[in-house]
Amino acid sequence: LFNGLALTPQMGWNSWNFFACDINETVIKETADALISTGLADLGYVYVNIDDCWSKAIRNLKGQLVPDSKTFPSGIKALADYVHAKGLKLGIYSDAGIFTCQVRPGSLYHEDDDAQLFASWGVDYLKYDNCFNLGIPPKKRYPPMRDAINSTERPILYSICEWGVDDPALWAGEVGNSWRTTDDINDTWASMTTIADLNDKWASYAGPGGWNDPDMLEVGNGGMTYHEYRAHFSIWALMKAPLLIGCDIRNMTDETMEILSNTEVIGVNQDPLGVQGRKVHSSGPDDCQQVWAGPLSGKRLAVALWNRCSSAANITAEWNSLGLEPSVKVSIRDLWQHKLVSRDAVSPFGAQVESHDSAMYIFTPQMSESHSVK
Ligand code: DGJ
Repeated sequence: LFNGLALTPQMGWNSWNFFACDINETVIKETADALISTGLADLGYVYVNIDDCWSKAIRNLKGQLVPDSKTFPSGIKALADYVHAKGLKLGIYSDAGIFTCQVRPGSLYHEDDDAQLFASWGVDYLKYDNCFNLGIPPKKRYPPMRDAINSTERPILYSICEWGVDDPALWAGEVGNSWRTTDDINDTWASMTTIADLNDKWASYAGPGGWNDPDMLEVGNGGMTYHEYRAHFSIWALMKAPLLIGCDIRNMTDETMEILSNTEVIGVNQDPLGVQGRKVHSSGPDDCQQVWAGPLSGKRLAVALWNRCSSAANITAEWNSLGLEPSVKVSIRDLWQHKLVSRDAVSPFGAQVESHDSAMYIFTPQMSESHSVK
């Protein structure tokens, strides 16, 4: 959606993966505080997104949504003011149906009123879910909220959460700033890998202003190993997925922080070229030795060697699978070891990768003779 937002994939935090319905204004404020104190905000994680369960079960007499008075007694405007004072942005959640998935009022047929209300509160982001949709096609339910948001004249990032049901990549580019391509992620290796493969299919539809959304990060929630989370973060970054942290950042381990704060991997995700990387090669048992890659600005490439096998493996990237001329020499920087591993590599490049880990690199082709200064 060309509304000037999400020119690179959105970054921030969302309450759902860790807290589900167990949210309140204190959690949201403490999370905003933690984004600042950990330094994550400075790395680009600026959206503080409240998911389902923030509202009362019924609208007020004026037909407006009302924040749950037990959990959000100060209201959403106060929270928006709080996060804005820290230089952060506030996200909220509603549903393109008559109820949210947790049976709070939905925004179907209330698009204009709800968008105006969100804008009046100072909301910067709307995640718009797909429950209780009366079987009305999403192409009829999602554009009205886009138009309602547009009428508010407040810049509000519009995140379509349609779960990939009706191939949103095919139509959501002019409707939202991102669209879910799959069902919900859960905190397991099986879920994460399955979702990566499903999201890969739609790579060509992503670009500045509109991204495929393979769902939020599970890094730090405990169901995967350090290596698995590193692979999760590497591939989400390379796929130009929104990077929405889904753990309790008030209580992160050093390993979780190390992964989420890898500025070189974040740099791949936020590269201005905005081209989604994809699986370019696979081999080994069940194709478990994989190469994922995509172009970056400055004729560079992001390359991940992803070992989905049950034991360590040497994974090799051939220049032709990366779209490089066979004779070109490249310098290779390792984004997890934070060092240059080769100045003038020639095809192929291989590395030993632990089981369920992903190595990640930036390849910078050397300028050919004809381009170099005489
Ligand atoms: C379904 C969505 O896919 C999730 O991300 C979350 O928003 C829940 N609904 C909330 O009920």
